[in-house]
Amino acid sequence: MNDAAPNAAPQTFYLKDYKPFGYEVESVKLTFQLSPNATKVHSAIRFTPKADAEDNRFFLHGEQLSLISAKIDGTPVTARLVEGGLECDVPRTSFLWEAEVEIDPAANTALEGLYMSNGMYCTQCEAEGFRKITYYPDRPDVMSTFTVRIEGDEPVMLSNGNPTGAGEGWAEWHDPWPKPAYLFALVAGDLVNHPGSFTTKSGKDVELNIWVRPGDEGKCAFGMEALKKSMKWDEDVYGLEYDLDLFNIVAVDDFNMGAMENKGLNIFNSSCVLASPETSTDANFERIEAIIAHEYFHNWTGNRITCRDWFQLCLKEGLTVFRDAQFTADMRSEPVKRIEDVIALRARQFPEDGGPLAHPPRPEEFQEINNFYTATVYEKGAEVIGMLKRLVGDDNYYKALNLYFERHDGQACTIEDWLKVFEDATGRDLSQFKLWYSQAGTPRVKVTEDYADGTYTLTFEQSTPPTPGQPEKAPRVIPMAVGLLSPNGDEVRATEVLELTEAKQSFTFEGLASKPVPSILREFSAPVILERETTNSERAFLLAHDTDPFNRWEAGNALAKEVRVAMVLDGAAPDAAYLDALEKLVRDDEQDPAFRALVLSPPSQSDIAQTLHERGHTPDPQKIYDAAETFTQTLAQQLETSLPRLYAATTVEGPYVPDADGAGKRALNSRILSLLTRLDGGEQAARQYASADNMTQQYAALAALMKAEKGETQSQAFFEQWQDDRLVMDKWFALQIACAAPETTAATAKELTQHPLFSMKNPNRFRAVMGALAGNHAGFHHASGAGYQLLAENLIALDSVNPQTTARMCAAFQTWKRYDSKRQAQIQAELERILATRDLSRDTHEMVSRMLSA
Ligand code: PHE
Ligand code: ZN
Repeated sequence: MNDAAPNAAPQTFYLKDYKPFGYEVESVKLTFQLSPNATKVHSAIRFTPKADAEDNRFFLHGEQLSLISAKIDGTPVTARLVEGGLECDVPRTSFLWEAEVEIDPAANTALEGLYMSNGMYCTQCEAEGFRKITYYPDRPDVMSTFTVRIEGDEPVMLSNGNPTGAGEGWAEWHDPWPKPAYLFALVAGDLVNHPGSFTTKSGKDVELNIWVRPGDEGKCAFGMEALKKSMKWDEDVYGLEYDLDLFNIVAVDDFNMGAMENKGLNIFNSSCVLASPETSTDANFERIEAIIAHEYFHNWTGNRITCRDWFQLCLKEGLTVFRDAQFTADMRSEPVKRIEDVIALRARQFPEDGGPLAHPPRPEEFQEINNFYTATVYEKGAEVIGMLKRLVGDDNYYKALNLYFERHDGQACTIEDWLKVFEDATGRDLSQFKLWYSQAGTPRVKVTEDYADGTYTLTFEQSTPPTPGQPEKAPRVIPMAVGLLSPNGDEVRATEVLELTEAKQSFTFEGLASKPVPSILREFSAPVILERETTNSERAFLLAHDTDPFNRWEAGNALAKEVRVAMVLDGAAPDAAYLDALEKLVRDDEQDPAFRALVLSPPSQSDIAQTLHERGHTPDPQKIYDAAETFTQTLAQQLETSLPRLYAATTVEGPYVPDADGAGKRALNSRILSLLTRLDGGEQAARQYASADNMTQQYAALAALMKAEKGETQSQAFFEQWQDDRLVMDKWFALQIACAAPETTAATAKELTQHPLFSMKNPNRFRAVMGALAGNHAGFHHASGAGYQLLAENLIALDSVNPQTTARMCAAFQTWKRYDSKRQAQIQAELERILATRDLSRDTHEMVSRMLSA
């Protein structure tokens, strides 16, 4: 901790302190009189004291509210304003609480509560934003029905549930489903809708709408189809049907996160819903489809069954991420989705789990819950469910899920409730499995093998390094999917799930004619780091022969990493055998293009840094960058004669369709173009840029040119063409920084912060610039320290505008202890500078202190 920090440590909340609220909330009626700087909110809430309450203190959360009046059963009362809310003396029988408050949405740049985005009113209440709208028991275990009246002159005024009336200057809504306040939403503004409809399996017609700003109507069709597919999929796979007559989605330009599952009124960051071939890449399309599904799936996993408290966040998020991944695998390609997810897990969750911000999927304490919407809660939370499914089997999984929906519909639940349905459905004891929810850190699993007289033995040793607050870890249940190949490439044992439960454990396979080659952790059956002494030729063998597509890719990926690590550590030349293997694979037209594209995509530079760190080396970002450059250049030269043919063969002709097939081909084509651009002076890329009729190809051409420092004209043209499209402009900002050489990255980013279209108030734009800076590994970590300094300065400036986004982006520093002492000292100085900022937000204070104190 930094003694000089003028900010006292804020309050810490603990899971163990949970106490139910002492009152039932029977119903909530809200009336909004909208006005940009002085919106009035009137609430009428019926409370009934619980007979068995442990604690009957009447405390309502409230922040940044001006209380105008309060009444109980029609009689004015004096409430005591206390830290974070108010207290009041109340009757011991059911009573009607009424309050009138005034709020200032136009001044709300934190984008939490009621705020304005481009003249449009909108809300964001998860996790604790409702308390910025009115006084309320703002906790997820308090559920109630909401009736909402909106008064204002906006053409469109929406809230949750079904419309119950509207007239000149007003609209009324009623949501029949009891919900916690974090699912409340209101939107009002000049909006147009893209309509659709869906008939549920029991024959109910549901009206669907995507609401956007005038001008964006043409970017809704794909999202609408994704929504319908999601509704159908949830019926087919989970038997879950939608439960209102109306489902609205609204696109908002200023939004801290991706999207929000408010009941019947999902609110989306416009980048996560608006799509058109001209403005969105294949990756955008895939992501949009997944996020629409994710928010829709929350209707059951999150809304109908919610969380008892915020420590249980992964109950809804882990499960919903798991469900959206299943959906994407079904809609697109299962192995490709799995590979993408593992790449993302290693890029975002492993560093978190191995650094000062490590926390279990169910944390036991927090200062600011917004800091726990993390890769650990979301992605590791989903991995834990994947392991559970693998351990109990598919049939048992769906049996347990049915029981979950049957038993807990309408409730606010815990991880204990979740595991209990699995125990009851299967008779299995899950107490050891539960450690996945309470222990942080990525387990290391060391594998050794032995072969004698036809018997093959695999021995696994698991251990988890210490994480903040958890020096010791107990062995976990680890499902280890294993298959065996014979030396000639045939599979001699199909995939089998070995259950690791002890610190050290062996498994034997009998009757093998020769020593097999093991394929371990197939489909990445557990989020662990595998440590095994093996050879590059065995990796190449698996890359050629493994029947598990994930492990086939993994073998290639491991090989790629070994080659890079050798280049960085020993200054070795790129391994010739590996280059040959790559060449063979790229030229093999029998292979799935998406798979070829993935194998051809090098491990990221931060991934190499992470690997070096795991092996006890101090990563040198510049050397890692140089190795990457040398490798790619060598690969391009090796493929030189085949590149034009490959480019032509993988070019997708005809109208652009954002499906998995086309996306796979275009991904491969873009990889080839980037290699080609290293050799042909950018001729092909310039031609592609000039003729592209979709963003995927336009962007790929621009990226290839800019990486080769040949894209000045096209970058300018791109700006001219797209300057009025905020989402495309985000790409333009980010790409310049992503493509910059290490020594110019910070300067490029700095210059872009001075661009007239840069803004601190729009999180997408801020992230486009600062996220790209943090994401350019060698540039951010350049020895000058300029990258660290620029990020810190901008985070300090952003903190008073938008604490949530500031705090999340501070995590760019979380890997700081990996680097050499000079870089550590530079980063430490920046972190201390942030921490010493006057009136630093609670959000940022918590993040920076955690990073400094570990
Ligand atoms: N609950 C949202 C989701 O997972 C994420 C979110 C959290 C959005 C907090 C806004 C604020 O989809
Ligand atoms: Zn979610």
